[in-house]
Amino acid sequence: MDEKRLTELVRSSGCNAKLPPGDLHEVLDSLPHDADARLIGGYEKSDDAFVYDIGEGKVLIETVDFFPPMVDDPVAFGEIAAANAISDIYAMGAEPSVALSLMCFPSCLPLSVMRSIMLGAIAKAREAGCIIAGGHTISDREPKFGLSVTAIAGKESVWTNSGALPGDVLVLTKKLGAGVNMTALKGGETDAAEAIESMRTLNKRARDMARALRVHAATDVTGFSILGHSAEMADGSGVTVSIAFSSLPFFSGTEELARFGFIPEGRYTNEDYLHDKVAFASGLGKRERDLLFSPETSGGLLLSMPRPDAERFVDGFGAPAAIIGHVRERGSVSVDVIA
Ligand code: CO
Ligand code: CO
Repeated sequence: MDEKRLTELVRSSGCNAKLPPGDLHEVLDSLPHDADARLIGGYEKSDDAFVYDIGEGKVLIETVDFFPPMVDDPVAFGEIAAANAISDIYAMGAEPSVALSLMCFPSCLPLSVMRSIMLGAIAKAREAGCIIAGGHTISDREPKFGLSVTAIAGKESVWTNSGALPGDVLVLTKKLGAGVNMTALKGGETDAAEAIESMRTLNKRARDMARALRVHAATDVTGFSILGHSAEMADGSGVTVSIAFSSLPFFSGTEELARFGFIPEGRYTNEDYLHDKVAFASGLGKRERDLLFSPETSGGLLLSMPRPDAERFVDGFGAPAAIIGHVRERGSVSVDVIA
């Protein structure tokens, strides 16, 4: 039988499929913004999450994320999409409670594929202690799936991405290179097993361990790339973030795949948007840019913490968590990358 592969039906996959940030901001910046005192500013400024004051010291957190498949196994796709969507809740230090699913599904695929995507998502949500309570499905030529996730948290306990302080160090809790690996997977050049395993892993353990320590700022690393999410944190916090290239963990084989040209399109739109926010030390060139501007999917948490807390975190969490840089007084750029 000639059943279509999931990734055959899509042009770009995972967070690689995000609209270029420049285009997105052009539209967003031109929209009316209704002021509501209950809508709290300063939280993850990633356009896909908000924090809403519901009184008595509690806030409602809501986030949404969905994308086309980056893997052919529908169960794995459901797991990755769920882990990725739920991650925005963990990036705010909160616990997901309920979710709604968003499904775009082609009529050329058997319904068993839709069922498998949902089963993967339900299992992953269950692991997070989150219930998928409903959803919406439409027919579409290109499959897409994701979740809108809701959490309720104590107002004072929510992490923002705008509290990084000079002297902090940055911890990253997953390896990088998902975008490069997914591009190579689509080209049949790798099985991307390590990247897939990482993408389907919840950021729950990272969030749980970090909750016991001092976290000044937090975000998660997805389509905007490690540099994009670092720049958002730096700009939100009024600081400059310094990232040491040699300290960054990558999935094995990632640098080789990038050198072979498996570069996701989002790498270029991310650089277009970020180029005057990021400075590279001399000696760093195209190779490093290819890796650092590439979108990630369901990436790790990026935490800005005092050094003793960061060291305790990395000791306790183990690999691949690593200290990847530090925070300093605001300089002329948002992020500088050193060797
Ligand atoms: Co998101
Ligand atoms: Co995010």
